[in-house]
Amino acid sequence: MFQENISLKSYNTFGIDIYAESFISVISIEQLKKIIEKNKDIFILSGGSNILLTQNISNPVIHLNIKGKEILKTQLQDTIFIKVQAGENWHEFVLWTLKNNFGGLENLSLIPGNVGTSPMQNIGAYGVEIKDVFYQLEALEIATGKIKIFKKEDCNFGYRESVFKNISKGKYIITNVTFQLTKNHHKLNTKYGAIQTKLENNNITKPTIKDVSNAVIAIRQKKLPDPKVIGNGGSFFKNPVISIQQFNDIQKDYPKIPHYPISEELVKTPAGWLIEQSGFKGKRFGDAGVHKNQALVLVNYGNATGKEILDLAKIIQNTVQNKFRISLSMEVNVI
Ligand code: EPU
Repeated sequence: MFQENISLKSYNTFGIDIYAESFISVISIEQLKKIIEKNKDIFILSGGSNILLTQNISNPVIHLNIKGKEILKTQLQDTIFIKVQAGENWHEFVLWTLKNNFGGLENLSLIPGNVGTSPMQNIGAYGVEIKDVFYQLEALEIATGKIKIFKKEDCNFGYRESVFKNISKGKYIITNVTFQLTKNHHKLNTKYGAIQTKLENNNITKPTIKDVSNAVIAIRQKKLPDPKVIGNGGSFFKNPVISIQQFNDIQKDYPKIPHYPISEELVKTPAGWLIEQSGFKGKRFGDAGVHKNQALVLVNYGNATGKEILDLAKIIQNTVQNKFRISLSMEVNVI
């Protein structure tokens, strides 16, 4: 049953008070199929952790709430395949894998959102991306109502990118994702500086996957605002990639600019650093603001509208453009 005129405030982590003209929470694929048979102009809402809502939504809002986890049979010694339904909460799923001693997701602890949307932007943190543990996904094709399987190569994963954000945008609803994890010989990824430091500070020399997860959780809690306390959508912008020449020019004036080489010609620089250097870190404009510990995260202190957050994002983009000649692209989906 569709409900009418529902506030989406509790369905988006930014906490924006926007209304859906009609809304339904879907708990099975059959239910989802029936809906799209009748209406294909729908708005799919998942964990709501990577969207900024700037206007009321007139298309029917379908909240994906399909739950379930299944361990698949395999002959492989050290590998486990887990099929997870789209509506499972990401972090709760990660904690479940750790409890069962399945390795691979520990660096991706505490990321907001649901399993179904995790492949869309190839979520990543602390040296690991979804693509490193992804096996396949199933998606409902809206035009035909048929289920299609996407293997890793079909998803075209990139930095915060997949086919679902470009050529296949709006065409599919991801219904479940299968992950390939380790059972015994876990391949820990502790290269990321902050993880190393955290483990050393805790005198952990032989970390387990749980230790790595705890380190990641502690780092995230220190730097990133908890959406339950202060509304936000995680990183608002992507980290830009610039040419070596441009990077060298900036480095002359800012010797400390953090950077990661991408190729012989290209360098990635943190958007958070550029925004901080542009004077925005910790700044507040009404109820819209830039987080005090991580300038890449825009926040809603209570009653900011989506438009106010978007206006602030545009001011930041213009300022960074004028100061560094770098154009920041938004990571969050603006509706
Ligand atoms: N920095 C600043 N000022 C700031 C923020 C960062 O100078 O206000 C500097 C830091 O000192 C550091 C560098 O920028 O030298 C990178 O910062 P950090 O390690 O916090 O990571 P990030 O590049 O800002 C990315 C992801 C995060 C992810 C972290 C850790 C993107 C857009 N963001 O942030 O992802 O958690 O790395 O892997 O790639 C998200 O997507 O929502 C998200 C939080």
